[in-house]
Amino acid sequence: MTRSPRVIGAEHIADARQNGRQLLEILPGDIVTQLARESAESAHITLVDGPLEKPAIPRTDGAITLQRSLYRRNPKWIAPKPSQGSSPGTISRLALIGAGGVGLNIAHLVANRGIANEVALIDVAPGVAEAAALDLNHASGITRSGTHVQGSADLSLIADAQVVVITAGRPRSPGMSRADLMTINRRIIQSISESVRTHAPDSIVIVVTNPLDEMTMTVLEGTGFPYHRVLGMAGTLDSSRFRWSLAQKAGVPVSDVEAVTLGSHGGEMVPIVSTALIRNKPVTTVLSEDEIRDCVETTVHGGESVVALRKTGSATLAPAHAVCELLDAIRGARPGALPVSVMLNGSYGIHDVVLGVPCVLDSSGLREIIELSITDEEQVLLEAAAESVRNRLDQAANTNI
Ligand code: LAC
Repeated sequence: MTRSPRVIGAEHIADARQNGRQLLEILPGDIVTQLARESAESAHITLVDGPLEKPAIPRTDGAITLQRSLYRRNPKWIAPKPSQGSSPGTISRLALIGAGGVGLNIAHLVANRGIANEVALIDVAPGVAEAAALDLNHASGITRSGTHVQGSADLSLIADAQVVVITAGRPRSPGMSRADLMTINRRIIQSISESVRTHAPDSIVIVVTNPLDEMTMTVLEGTGFPYHRVLGMAGTLDSSRFRWSLAQKAGVPVSDVEAVTLGSHGGEMVPIVSTALIRNKPVTTVLSEDEIRDCVETTVHGGESVVALRKTGSATLAPAHAVCELLDAIRGARPGALPVSVMLNGSYGIHDVVLGVPCVLDSSGLREIIELSITDEEQVLLEAAAESVRNRLDQAANTNI
């Protein structure tokens, strides 16, 4: 079927802007008016010569073989021990989309710890990313960091990134749930996904924008990347909060606590009590039922508590550390499994939805999902979390937001 060329006018740019797009595909034969070019420039919308390559979305990309190798259901399976003595790699180029509180703190930690050779910092607000990059590079005379930081408002700076971290989007205000951000952030994330697919087609993507599990699913669909290259950061943050609250309650250093939080990054998150240990003893033998319930509540409402105190914006420091934990796992500097939001296709008996589960990561992204032996009650809570994420996504799709 032949296509009639379009005249791209200022109204197309206005439309793209309203839909939160940062790229507009121009097909062969299309005519772009001067006014459209000027409007695109002032709206920071890039006109890209098409047709852009659109990989099939994962549901239809014949990923069965990949799933078989990625998802294990045998509860007796034990994660292979990381090889001893191997030195961790360094991420060649890390792109951070969003230079707000979380993005900036990630850049700072990454530069200080030499996690990546290059950091590309991007923010839509003109000058913000450039200023932060310069500021961090200025610090390198003291820190002697070898990480080279670049900043731009232009998303093409993410080209060649090995890992892309997306923090862009609106944070919560007091009284809002993460799910309340669905409408606004879904549009932003859809548009960013197009740019990631275009400019960094081989990257591993870590999603931080809320609502986390839903936005991770949106990136999966928008990029068309395989499941093992789209990861959501929430479990490392929620597990850290859970460990901290258990340590506070038991009056022990947090290094004496082992605990993990799975499920969604929302009201349905599931701090796993049955496997939690304080000084190697089951938490149920150290704390009372009420004390444990308190710790679970503190964990579930951890993000909200920070938002309530700050009034504008949400937590930045703990989320940045939680992203670095994933980066360390990807580069081989952090052995073992850690909770990550990934697409489930049968693990924990759950299908076709993104949810936080223990994962082993490596330089290609998700290597294995680990099936912990959890209680029936915890399993029910995980399934309820999956159902809530699925319902919210269906609702968004039905109302076309
Ligand atoms: C929080 C945000 C990052 O939990 O979701 O603090």
